[in-house]
Amino acid sequence: MFTTIKPPSTSALNLLPNDLFSAINELKRDLKAIILAHYYQDPDIQDIADFIGDSLGLSQQAATTQAEVIVFAGVHFMAETAKILNPDKLVLLPDLDAGCSLAESCPPAEFAKFKAQYPDALVVSYINCTAEIKAMSDVICTSSNAVKIVNQLPKDRPIIFAPDRNLGRYVMEQTGRDLILWQGSCIVHETFSEKKIVQLKIEHPEAEILAHPECEPSVLHHADYIGSTTALLNYSHQSSHQIFIVATEPGIIHQMQKYNPNKMFIPAPAMNNCACNECPYMRLNTLEKLYLAMKFKQPEIIMDESIRVAALRPIQRMLEMSK
Ligand code: 13P
Ligand code: SF4
Repeated sequence: MFTTIKPPSTSALNLLPNDLFSAINELKRDLKAIILAHYYQDPDIQDIADFIGDSLGLSQQAATTQAEVIVFAGVHFMAETAKILNPDKLVLLPDLDAGCSLAESCPPAEFAKFKAQYPDALVVSYINCTAEIKAMSDVICTSSNAVKIVNQLPKDRPIIFAPDRNLGRYVMEQTGRDLILWQGSCIVHETFSEKKIVQLKIEHPEAEILAHPECEPSVLHHADYIGSTTALLNYSHQSSHQIFIVATEPGIIHQMQKYNPNKMFIPAPAMNNCACNECPYMRLNTLEKLYLAMKFKQPEIIMDESIRVAALRPIQRMLEMSK
């Protein structure tokens, strides 16, 4: 369960100003706040953010910001990581229900039992997990540094990798290390249809397929480039290709299109004819909720200090090992 203060009631929606962009910018100045946003946020949130990034970039910003308030337009584990790194700041999350299926797939009590089966193992946890899981880990990683981190660990120690089995499998391939995988996955990235991606590639043979390592191996197998959201964005910019099939949450396409207006980006379709390739947690945040969070200075991330201190150590180790 998240430790937090209740959000403002929905009657507060009557208080919305006509020009939300100006009102948010004004509150940002008054609060001395910084708005950090993930690429999976709605385009209007991305447009008002001070920094948009992948999980590593966002945690680096959260660790070093001089702002007094961090408004985190992302999901709970991201805002929680910001609080762990910078406990004296007020950290606001526009919608407290913005969780993450991966984080939820790794309950602390079950993970503790799993870990106890491998007493010699080092624990590498993907940042998409709760503070309790981080506290049980030796080092945290993100999709952009997982390979680099695992490559730096002693060769004679077994390694538990949690919670994403797809990223874990990808890291195994890239490092040649045999990881003990927790069997978690992301409901968004496991939904992409290999069949529909192959069909799109037949229709656009000149297209490159870009994929996030949280995708299933059957999708990664077709990818021309695999990387974190920031890495995918940078690659789309540098590549001489003009068409891309994007196998990650389609929110990233806003930035891809902005920086490459003449290129074409096709979101990889889900297996069913649904919008399940959109992260239902990320999309809970809206510009309206962002405004209300800043106006009422809640919902705020509040943490148990002993868990925060225990979770800080492996995050700091990650930041050191990523340099
Ligand atoms: P990135 O760190 O690549 O942005 O990934 C975050 C995430 O939640 C992917 O689903
Ligand atoms: Fe979690 Fe998946 Fe959403 Fe990323 S896309 S926040 S891993 S549920």
